Order: sequence, then C-alpha cells, then structure tokens
Amino acid sequence: ATALIGGGVAAGVGSLASPAIAQQPAQFPDGFLWGTSTSSYQIEGAATADGRGPSIWDTLSHTPGKVLNNDTGDVAADHYNRYLEDVALMADAGLKAYRFSIAWPRIQPTGSGPANAKGLDFYDRLVDALLRRGIEPWPCLYHWDLPQALQDRGGWTNRDIADWFADYALIVAGRLGDRAKNWVMLNEPSVVAIFGHGVGGHAPDLRGRENFCAAIHHQNLAQGRALSALRAVGAKDWKLGTVLSVQPVKPSPGNDANRHAAAQWDAVWNRSCLDPLFKGQYPDSLIADFKPLIKQGDMEAIRQPIDFLGLNYYSRMHQVTDPGGLFGTNFGPSPEGTKYTDMGWPVEPEGLYEQLIDFRDNYGNIPVYVTENGASYGDWVGPTGKAEDGGRIFYIRDHLLACHRAIKDGANLKGYFVWTLLDNFEWGFGYTQHFGLVQVDRETMQRRPKASYYWYGDVAKSNEVPL
Ligand code: NOJ
Repeated sequence: ATALIGGGVAAGVGSLASPAIAQQPAQFPDGFLWGTSTSSYQIEGAATADGRGPSIWDTLSHTPGKVLNNDTGDVAADHYNRYLEDVALMADAGLKAYRFSIAWPRIQPTGSGPANAKGLDFYDRLVDALLRRGIEPWPCLYHWDLPQALQDRGGWTNRDIADWFADYALIVAGRLGDRAKNWVMLNEPSVVAIFGHGVGGHAPDLRGRENFCAAIHHQNLAQGRALSALRAVGAKDWKLGTVLSVQPVKPSPGNDANRHAAAQWDAVWNRSCLDPLFKGQYPDSLIADFKPLIKQGDMEAIRQPIDFLGLNYYSRMHQVTDPGGLFGTNFGPSPEGTKYTDMGWPVEPEGLYEQLIDFRDNYGNIPVYVTENGASYGDWVGPTGKAEDGGRIFYIRDHLLACHRAIKDGANLKGYFVWTLLDNFEWGFGYTQHFGLVQVDRETMQRRPKASYYWYGDVAKSNEVPL
C-alpha cells in the first residue's frame, strides 16, 4: 500500500481504537506463529556486491525526483553484511518465523540464465543462521526488485515473464528447499500493478489501464506457473502460498456514487488477484479489460490449490468517484474521527477482523497468515535510553485483538508477522517513514530496539496479548 491513501494527519501516540477493551489477556491458540517480515531491497543494501545486477528500484531511486530526498537502497539497513546481528535480534525477542524476500537480481543478475552462486550463497547462510536460532525461514520470491534487464524486455507487461519467473523459482527452491519449507510466490501483486503500472510512483513507474491489466494478468500467471513447477519437483513437506494486500473497501462518506467507486475498487485492488487464484475468473466488472490478455489454459494455470494465503493488512480503503482516476475511482477521506499513522493511513483494526471473516465465508476458510501488519510512527529516545514508540504498541495490540476475535469466530488464522523488523527504505518515501521494531542509525547503522520490540517479544513468548 502507499501513501496516496488517506488524509495525511500525523497522529502521534495512538489511543485504543477498539470499542471493547479486553478484560483479560487474549490467549492465542497453541502453535500460533509469531514473526516479522522484511524485503530485500528495503534492508539489504550491498547493491553491487557479489555480482548482484541492477533492479528496477535501483533505476527508479537513482532517477532524481522519484524518491523523497533522492534516497536509494544502495546501503539500506546494510542487512547483507549484518544479517547475523539481525537474526540475533529476532531470536532474542523469541520470534519463531521470518519472512524475507530473495533479490532476483542477486540470483540471476540479468534475469535469466544460470544462477549466480554468490547470490545464492547469501540466502543459504541466512537460512542456516535462522535455523540455528530456531526461526522458520519464510522466503518470498518476489518483493518488487525485478532485474532491470527483464524490464528492458517489458517486465510484467511481457507474458514471457511467467516462464522466466518459474525458472527462477526452481533455482531458488532447489537450493534452499531442503531447509526452507514455507514458500511465498509474490508480494502484493495488486500494488505492483496499480502503483508500478497503473498510476505510477513505484518502479517501473508506468501508467494506464492496459499496463495495469497486463501486470495483473502476468503476475497471476507467473504465480500459477511457479506454483505448479514447484509442486512438480516439490518436497512433500513444502507449503506453498502467496501474499496479497487485501482490505475492505468502503465508500467515502457523503456521496451515493461513491458506493459504485468502492465496488469497482474492490474488484481492482482485491479481487483481480483473489478471484483468479481461488475461483478461476476475473471480477465481472473487469472482464472486458482482461479478455484480450487471456489465452487458452491461462485461467486453469492461475487457479491453483495453495497451502496458505498471506494477508498484508494496514487499513480499510475509502473510495470516491473520480473520472480521471484509474477505473473511475480514487482514494477519498475516511469517516470523521478516524486516527492516522504517520503515513496518513487510517487506523482501523476492525477492518482486519472483517477481512479475516471474508476469507472464512467467501474463500474456503483457507489457512491464513497475516504476513504484514504494522505502522509508521516516529520514535524518540526517552530518559531511560530506550526508544519509545507507544503508538506502534497500541496499533499492533489493537490489530492482534481483532485477530483474536476473528479466530474465536472461526477464522483460520495461523500466525502473524509484524511489518517490520528494522526501519528501512520505505519505497517512494525513502528513509522518512519508520515501520521498524528496531531503529537503525542512518550514519552508523547501529540497531536500537524500540519499546515495541520488547513488547512484541513478550507477546510472542507468552502467546498472549496482555491487558
Ligand atoms: C507493504 C509492502 O509489502 C512493504 O514493502 C511496505 O514497506 C509496507 N507495505 C509499508 O508500506
């Protein structure tokens, strides 16, 4: 999701958003998985180390004016060199799972052809370090850093990418799959299609309805081809899934036409990825746009059994009609009284409950993991020398209570990953937005855990959210 959403009022320290305040600690089911998520371009740095090729985010961030302060991921959080320290941070907090992404340009610097051994070696070392500390690795194959060489061939607008992606998936899983058991295909394909190809702002910064549709369809197809390629060679104990950004879409208050905008945006943002995967069809309102792209057999290739769905959730969306917007809609104001994070995103834990119930009722109650949830808030070093970030604690707490209630009501939720471990490169916002449980000093790269890190560690260790 990105900042085009919402109104832009910084909220500072949050307050309890749920009307019903828990009377006793919220105990989670045994085996509930507690983790954090990151992504390669946002934390690794080492942009040219060990044969890594350029990605579309290197290109965009090095184009003046595209990222706030012209920040780049050249150094990011220097995780490539400090991964052992970062794994220790997770282990010390008692976390049991870590979703990270593989940088395709480290594995295939020009996007296709033989693997770059040194690139694979890095993830091999990372996986071993995680397992040594009792943390399950959850590699994600694509979190937005497409090799630039593939973009030069059309990237996600070129249908051939489905096969390029399946080849790459086989290389990575072939190397790590004896130890990594949970595999995520894509991260938020609708965001890639909307902001990367529909309205611009994210790499490769294209625009237009046709580019949007091509990027959606080819990501859906790539995901389907990778899933079946991995199943064909797969160890039986692999769990294969994907991560979608899904959120309830509401009309912005005040105008009846906004109801249509909300329904249309729900089709664009949520159901253009969900429905092909689970139902083998595009939403009715979009079918005319997708028709020219669909070849025989595509929908069967896309509709795949998956072992889990990853849900990235930050807020609901509130839409208005806008003839100039993508598919006639645009982001509008939230209801009065809504609180916002520093990204300007509304704080709406109830929307997470609604979304989990929607999966229960309309998508076969498949096992779900919240693979991202978290908030951008400023933090400061208090008198005790600790970095204080009370707003984040309230935010995570309220969303966990929403998860707890959904589980009680029958949602098949198996785990929760905070976005994110470290303050990092927040795409078009550069280093100005801080989602981390841990601060990273931009000069020294020193890590300083925030209050939320200790709080979340206690939750993970006790398997309950305290009063
Ligand atoms: C979703 C994306 O997957 C992640 O990369 C990003 O940093 C967070 N949202 C926060 O915007």
